[in-house]
Amino acid sequence: MRWLSVFPCLAVLLCVQPTVAQAASSVPSQIAGHDAILLGTAWYPEQWPESRWEEDLRLMEAANIKVVRITEFAWSRMEPSEGRYDFAWLDRAIALAAKHHIVTVLGTPTATPPAWLTLKHPEILRVEPDGQRVTHGNRAHGSAASAMYREYCRKIAEQMAQRYGKNPNVVGWQIDNEYGYALMSYDDETRGQFRQWLKAKYGTLENLNARWTTAYWSETYDDWNEIPIPVGEHNPGLMLDWKHFITATWTDYQQNQITVLRKHTETRQFITGNFMGFFDGFDHYTITEPLTFASWDDYVGTGHLDAVYNGLSHDLTRGFKRENFWVMETQPAMVNWSKLNNSLNKGEVRAMAWQAIAHGADEVGYWQWRSALNGQEEYHGTLVGADGTPVPLYAEVSQIGQEFSATQDALRGTSPVSEVALLYSYDSHWAIQWQKHTEKYDDIGLLKSYYGPLRKLSQSVDVVSANAPLDSYKLVVAPSLNVLPKDVASHLLEYVRGGGHLVLGPRSGMKDEFNGLLTQRQPGYLVEALGGRVEQFYALEKNAPVLGAWGDGEATVWAEQLGSLASDAKTLLTYGKGNGWLDDQPAAVTRGYGKGRITYIAAVLDEKLMAAAAEWMAEGSGVKAILGPVPDGVELSRRRGNGKDVFILINTTQEARSLDLPRTMKQLLTGKETSSVALGPYGVEVLEEATH
Ligand code: GLA
Repeated sequence: MRWLSVFPCLAVLLCVQPTVAQAASSVPSQIAGHDAILLGTAWYPEQWPESRWEEDLRLMEAANIKVVRITEFAWSRMEPSEGRYDFAWLDRAIALAAKHHIVTVLGTPTATPPAWLTLKHPEILRVEPDGQRVTHGNRAHGSAASAMYREYCRKIAEQMAQRYGKNPNVVGWQIDNEYGYALMSYDDETRGQFRQWLKAKYGTLENLNARWTTAYWSETYDDWNEIPIPVGEHNPGLMLDWKHFITATWTDYQQNQITVLRKHTETRQFITGNFMGFFDGFDHYTITEPLTFASWDDYVGTGHLDAVYNGLSHDLTRGFKRENFWVMETQPAMVNWSKLNNSLNKGEVRAMAWQAIAHGADEVGYWQWRSALNGQEEYHGTLVGADGTPVPLYAEVSQIGQEFSATQDALRGTSPVSEVALLYSYDSHWAIQWQKHTEKYDDIGLLKSYYGPLRKLSQSVDVVSANAPLDSYKLVVAPSLNVLPKDVASHLLEYVRGGGHLVLGPRSGMKDEFNGLLTQRQPGYLVEALGGRVEQFYALEKNAPVLGAWGDGEATVWAEQLGSLASDAKTLLTYGKGNGWLDDQPAAVTRGYGKGRITYIAAVLDEKLMAAAAEWMAEGSGVKAILGPVPDGVELSRRRGNGKDVFILINTTQEARSLDLPRTMKQLLTGKETSSVALGPYGVEVLEEATH
C-alpha cells in the first residue's frame, strides 16, 4: 500500500465516509459526521507485520468497531532516532483502517520515551522518593516536571500534529496515557519548581509559615530552599500544596502538548485524556478544563461489576466537564494486573458497555485488540487470541457494536439530565485520607452510600465539583466537604437562599483552603445558616444507636454531636445510649434558610437509615423517579436531547427481572412497541419516547 504515502492526496479520497451530514455536533464527544456512539479498541500496528493489519481491521469491521486508538506507546517507531521521523507506516495504518470504515484517535507517546532519549538525557528519568532514578524498559518513566523532557514531548506531538492535524480519518487526540499515574520525580529540578510555585502562591515565607502554622514542631521555614517535597506524613498544609503542585505540573505538561496540537489540528479533532475513575493523583476538575471532553479507563479487575460504584465512577467522569465522555478503555472479560484476574461473566461485558452509554459515554473502547507477542501484558483480556483469531468474547462485543449502530441515531445529541447532584472535592478527599482519625473511615465509600439510594430514587445523579453551577439541581448533597473555604461556602449559601436543598455529611466544614482548621466549629461558614454546629466529633469504637424521623438504626465509624441549635432548627435524628457523650444528642438537623433548606447529617449511617434519609431528601426537594420504580438490581437511566428521551434499562444481576412500563414505548433494539420489559441475566433494554 506504499503508493498512499507517495500520493497523500489519494488518502483523502479513501477517508471514512461520514454517516450523516457534517453539522457540528452539539455534544463534543459525538463526532460530527459519524455515529453518535462508537465501539472502539486499542490497536498497536507498530507491534505487527504490516501484512497482518488487513486481517485485524477486517475482523474489527466485522465486529462493528468504528474507532481505533493507536500510537500512545509508539514513540520509538515514529522517531527511531533523534529527529529522524518515520510516519509512512502510520499513514498506511490510518488509511487502511479508514478503508474498513474505522476512524483513528492518535495518542501522544509521551508515556514511553524511547531508549535513545533516556540514554542521551538520563536526567529526564523520574527519581523515586527513595532517591533511586528509574530506568528505561517500562512506562511513565519520564519526569513531567523536566523542562528537557517537555521539549522532546512538544517536538514529537508537534510532528504528529503537523502530519495528521488535517487527516480526515483522524478524529481526535489522547494526551499521554493515564497521565503517568501522576507520578512525580523527587529530583532537584522538581524541588526547585515546587519552591518557586510556593513562592508565587504565598509571596512571603511569613505568609506561608502562618498558613501552615509552622510554629508547630518548629517547622518554621526561613528560606524557601528549606522546604521539602513531602514523603510520607507531613504538615497538612504542605501536603495539600504538594498535591496542588502535582496538579499544576501535570496540567502544564498537558498544555505543553495541547498548544502544539491546537496549532496544527482542525478544530473538529478533539483532544482528550484517559483518566481512571476515582484515581486521586491530581485534581481532575483542574486538569480536564482545557480538554474537549474527558475519557476514562473502566476496569473491574478482580470480581464482577459493582454497578453502583461503576455508575458513580461514570458520573464522576461526566462531572469533570459536565459533558458526555468516552470510555477510552474497558475490560474485555479480564485484566492481567489484579490479584485474581477472573473473567467477567457472559453478558456482563455487554451490560457494562450499555451502562457506560446510559451514564453519558459516547464511545466504549476495549483494551486491547490483541496481546503483543511479548511484553508485560501477555495475559490481559483481548478480542482476538495469540493466533489472531477471535476469542469467545468477540461475539458479545460484536453484538454490542451492532446494537450501538442500531441505536446511535436515537442517542445523537442526548445526555443524562439530573435533578440531584453530589459534590466531590479532591482537597477534602486528600485532607480526610491523610488524617482519617479512624482507619475505618472511607470517604469514597460514604459518597457511594449516598449515591446508591439517591440514584435508585431519582434514576439520575450528577457528581460535580463544589464550585460547579448548582441552580439546575433540586437537591445538592455534599457527603464529605471537609475543606470548605469561604468562597465555596458563599457559593453553597447562594444555592440554598435561591431555593435549593443542601445536605451536608459528617466532617463537613472543618478546614480552610490551606488544610488548616477553621476557627469556627463545623460546618464553618455554614454554621449560621444551619442554625447549629458540631460540638464534638468522635471516631466510634462501636456503632452507636440512632433513632428519629428516618426510623432507627446505627451510626457506624464516625459520629458528631450537634448542638447550639437555633429555635427553628429541627432535629431529625438523635443518638441513643452510645459512648456516653453522644447519648440523646442530635445526630441530624435541618433548617429552612432563605427560600431553601440546609441539612447536616453528623454520622456515617447504616444502609437502612441511608435509604430512609435519601427518601426524605428526595421527597422534601420534589425529586421524582424519572420513569418510576424498577426491580432491585435493575438500573434505569435516561438520556435526553433533540426532543426525545432514550431510556436504558440494565439488569445488573444474573437473575431474570421484569417490569411494566408506565406507557407504551419503542424498543430500539427490536423496533417493536412495548409496555413491559423482560430482562434476562445482564439483560439490556433501550427504549425511545418522543418528548414533543
Ligand atoms: C491501563 C493502560 C493500558 C493497559 C491497561 C491494562 O488502563 O492505559 O495501556 O495497561 O491498563 O488493563
